[in-house]
Amino acid sequence: MAQVQYDCSTGNHPNITNSTASPVGHEQIQLLLHVCKEAKKSAYCPYSRFPVGAALLTCDGKIFSGCNVENACYPLGICAERTAIQKAVSEGYVNFRAMAIASNTEEDFIVPCGACRQVMREFNRDWDIYMTKPDGTYIVKTLQELLPLSFGPEDLKKF
Ligand code: THU
Repeated sequence: MAQVQYDCSTGNHPNITNSTASPVGHEQIQLLLHVCKEAKKSAYCPYSRFPVGAALLTCDGKIFSGCNVENACYPLGICAERTAIQKAVSEGYVNFRAMAIASNTEEDFIVPCGACRQVMREFNRDWDIYMTKPDGTYIVKTLQELLPLSFGPEDLKKF
């Protein structure tokens, strides 16, 4: 599939609350849903036995996957969402358009934890988070909706 470019030019503007970034197409959404489900298979979660997968879409149309990686020293475990973000940033990508998240929970849509919301917010507020169920259904919210009144890089410049 050809890479799609997204206009993410409103990113990091402190007054932007509604998503004005270009919409993610149906095909790309389906791909994100597929990639996060596949990524879940790599989850290393012997302690929680709660596998999670994530698929991160950059504004350049590139997709990074991630899974949760736990550790015998429990606090060192990292969520799928942050794995994907760290993979992307470490390869030079910091502009994000969307992320999809998958778990095995049948009853509820998997939602990102507070720590992941804050890490997502570091890079932009104007992107979409697709929260899925194993049956392929999802709900989608902007990061701004998931983390309103957030603290970010521009706040450090205000004093
Ligand atoms: N986890 C994620 O990877 N993402 C979420 O959105 C929620 C929780 C992981 C962390 C831990 O490895 C396991 O799921 C149980 O909390």
